[in-house]
Amino acid sequence: MQPQDHEQFAHTLLPETTADEFSRQEFVKSYKLHLASQVSPNTKVVYDKQVRPAFEKEHGRAPKNRHEIRKAMNGNNHYQTWSSLQRTSQEMMWKSCQGPVERQLDTLIAESNKKISAKSAGGTLKLDPELEIPRYLTAVDIHCQPGGYHTEVAKDDVASGAIFERAVYIYAMGQLGPMNDDIGGSTIEYLKSTRPDFAPKRILELGCSTGNSIVPYKDAYPDAELYAVDVAAPMLRYAHARCESLGVPVHLSQQNAEHMDFEDGSFDLIVSHILIHETSTTAFRNIMKETHRLLTPGGVAVHVETPAYKGMDAYDAFILDWDTYNNNEPFWSKSHEIDPPSAAKEAGFDPEKTFEAMAPSAYEAAKAKRTNVFQGGDFGGGGFWYLYGFEK
Ligand SMILES: C[S@@+](CC[C@H](N)C(=O)[O-])C[C@H]1O[C@@H](n2cnc3c(N)ncnc32)[C@H](O)[C@@H]1O
Repeated sequence: MQPQDHEQFAHTLLPETTADEFSRQEFVKSYKLHLASQVSPNTKVVYDKQVRPAFEKEHGRAPKNRHEIRKAMNGNNHYQTWSSLQRTSQEMMWKSCQGPVERQLDTLIAESNKKISAKSAGGTLKLDPELEIPRYLTAVDIHCQPGGYHTEVAKDDVASGAIFERAVYIYAMGQLGPMNDDIGGSTIEYLKSTRPDFAPKRILELGCSTGNSIVPYKDAYPDAELYAVDVAAPMLRYAHARCESLGVPVHLSQQNAEHMDFEDGSFDLIVSHILIHETSTTAFRNIMKETHRLLTPGGVAVHVETPAYKGMDAYDAFILDWDTYNNNEPFWSKSHEIDPPSAAKEAGFDPEKTFEAMAPSAYEAAKAKRTNVFQGGDFGGGGFWYLYGFEK
């Protein structure tokens, strides 16, 4: 079956929905789109026409940065309304995805166990029940996801993976493509265009969640062995079953990306897709050092995120920063201020071999649909991914 451009691809692990459940999810998707395209742009008008002039009158200058804008906007009715509706849309999104998964959890677990034991694609799964889940993932329900990634409610649980897969599709309003694989695809296009002769033999993804971003690496680098780690067992079980059902062999293991059990120099490409903004400042330092240890000489590490605040218009940065204060993303703000050359130096990489880029979205329809405006709540808009990386 070919994925339809406008629908999420129904692989065997994607939770089924009744007509009512589907309309509820579609409502949330349209509601988010409405907020992004109809309500959010007016917030900017309100800022330009009311809030900024009032700030300038009081202070004799324009706001200096996103923090001053946020403090000024926090008292504005229009912004409060958008922000409240945006937060509500996030809570509705999780609820609309939880219902179908709760209803068919036994079936999803049975299907996942079947795929795991069949080992048809040749991938593997190694879980570590003793692994400590880092505090930056347990202290809050990350991005309002009830129970976060790691919570288990049943034996061999896959619920958080199944919920996350559908929720990400709705969150991005379909703009990650039918396979939710635009971040991986865009990174691959960037690597292919900048390093056409690069042919990694072993690729590692950090924080793979459902495996949505690692899957396209198989087609891009058919001779490579694929590895992926995550701290959350339910995500990994789901990812493993999903990868097997798609015929893509991936070796998945439950490990903290800060300290892994692979030998030095095990990989020539290490990637992360929207992982870093969820980790603490200390964890990022550890991940940088671990990445340096695991790369072969000449190997490449790439981290993909929404755009950095450096050089960004202060209003856009304020909108993009909304998640920090309103969507349980405590490290979002700091992670958008990472300075790759300094991070490289600290971890033992040559800062001269650091690179940064805005990689255009690989998913054609996303290029056309995304707005190039920072509107909040859809990975920052723009049809681009910000990536930074290091060569060893
Ligand atoms: C936003 S999701 C990643 C999404 C996915 N990579 C994609 O491309 O859509 C972040 C994932 O990273 C995992 N994670 C967070 N911190 C981690 C760490 N220190 N080590 C390994 N996995 C981690 C979480 O459990 C979660 O599944």
